[in-house]
Amino acid sequence: MTSVAQSPAWRRLHSHAQRLRQERITSLFDRDARRASEFTAVLEGIRLDYSKQLIDHEGMEMLLGLARQQDLSGWIQRMAAGETLNATEGRAAGHMALRGAAGSRMEVQGVDVMPAVHAVRRRMNAFAERVRSGEWRGYSGQTIQDVVNIGIGGSDFGPRMVREALKDHADGPRVHFVSNVDGAQISGLLRWLDPARTLWIVTSKTFTTQETMTNAHTARRWLVQHAGEAAISRHFVACSTNRAEIERFGIDAANMFEFWDWVGGRYSLWSAVGLPILISVGPERFDELLAGARAMDQHFVSAPLERNLPVLLALLAIWNFNFLDHGTQVVVPYAQRLEKFIGWLQQLELESNGKAVTRDGALVDYRTSVVLWGDVGSNAQHAFFQTLHQGPRVHPVDFILPMQGTPGLEHHHCILVANCLAQSAALMKGKTPEQVREELRGKGLSGEALESAVPHRVFSGNRPSNTLLLPRLDAWHLGALLALYEHRTFVESVIWEINAFDQWGVELGKQLAQDVLRAMDGQDAGLDPSTVALLEQIRQGSQEQA
Ligand code: F6P
Repeated sequence: MTSVAQSPAWRRLHSHAQRLRQERITSLFDRDARRASEFTAVLEGIRLDYSKQLIDHEGMEMLLGLARQQDLSGWIQRMAAGETLNATEGRAAGHMALRGAAGSRMEVQGVDVMPAVHAVRRRMNAFAERVRSGEWRGYSGQTIQDVVNIGIGGSDFGPRMVREALKDHADGPRVHFVSNVDGAQISGLLRWLDPARTLWIVTSKTFTTQETMTNAHTARRWLVQHAGEAAISRHFVACSTNRAEIERFGIDAANMFEFWDWVGGRYSLWSAVGLPILISVGPERFDELLAGARAMDQHFVSAPLERNLPVLLALLAIWNFNFLDHGTQVVVPYAQRLEKFIGWLQQLELESNGKAVTRDGALVDYRTSVVLWGDVGSNAQHAFFQTLHQGPRVHPVDFILPMQGTPGLEHHHCILVANCLAQSAALMKGKTPEQVREELRGKGLSGEALESAVPHRVFSGNRPSNTLLLPRLDAWHLGALLALYEHRTFVESVIWEINAFDQWGVELGKQLAQDVLRAMDGQDAGLDPSTVALLEQIRQGSQEQA
């Protein structure tokens, strides 16, 4: 099998990138009066403006040629049809079925899963309503005031991020999240939670994840100390695929919300894993979230590649990294409510595409797994934007901006918008030495003082970005945004010929953690000398503390 990097489409793009490296994005605008509108794609008011990328029409055509060569449309249809895309685990990637409309038919590995999906959703809705309305009572007969989700990775990032994003709509009990096995997190909560009024949701696809089970057992012990074993059925529910382990833990099977092995952890917030969201904002908002994602799914499956938002986002990322050789991917939502979005996106992108072998197991000879990072604007401007503007490497940015802000504080939103647009313009335009000189002369500088100041104030510019405008940050548009990035990740994997749905790279560390635990127990675990020495230091350090 020859590598995609040896293919005609890839080679053409490579040569084209050599030519475009000599260009300025601003010159592309000068030569094309309609560039801003022609390099914009829209879905239901969501506008992706990619005109500030260093690419022209010919380049876009070549990227679409690469997508066709890689049979992207075929892969999209295969995912939508529920085929076994995750070959190393023999599983489908059925997350689109989780947001399928009632009454629709969607198959996963040949079985219509919609009846099961909607049956679980109905149970989730009913349960959430009972908790929200106060009908569900704790062991002492009191209503539930606090809900704590215990889970990690995909069993935490998604619901935590959506809960945060939709906080303005929260009208249910308070919802908290415990993920870290660092006891500081759960002990901080246990200090003030009322056992009689707290509901614990243990969320784990496997129900064997060490961190989650450790936290779940700590919460269980705490409840039992206060209220005895009989209280567990009123205070613990589980979202999982593993009924046997849930029952072994002592949770009533009637309090289990099921999902399935064809739901990848990082694609799972739409499943039973979304229960904390439902309890926080209610079934109606959760339905809106699903509807927004569904609209993006329908667009992804049916829109032509050249107008397909996830496809465009992914192809532009590939252009920047594989052809222009830029550094990392930065994502900056100008929306405080999207503070947790980056964490969710990092797992999505880096666990999905952090692979260096193709689906057939061949080592890749091109870059994959683009490091993705970011933070909310405008905070991020005061943290890492210096390097985006003047650092030695170019890091393309996705700016995400809701067009409506907080009611009553419209002037805040004006400033937010101004900052967001100013940053992408500054990255593109830069500032030349001549412009700097003129500015400094205006401030009365001259001679050596002026010349020595110039290099520090020059901005090379020509740094690419996308701007994604959302009509507003409500449940519907949030759902669409999340599905957009999910599909972007998948498209990248198709071009790179990797499996986006397994995660073998997390296994070795888990195994070695067991060895370290055995060594801490005094057993010979065959650890390397560095780890043995570190462990000895830690042993001494913890004895000093004691
Ligand atoms: O990080 C590895 C991983 O398997 C993720 O893919 C998953 O989201 C997370 O652990 C949690 O797994 P589980 O839901 O089975 O506890």
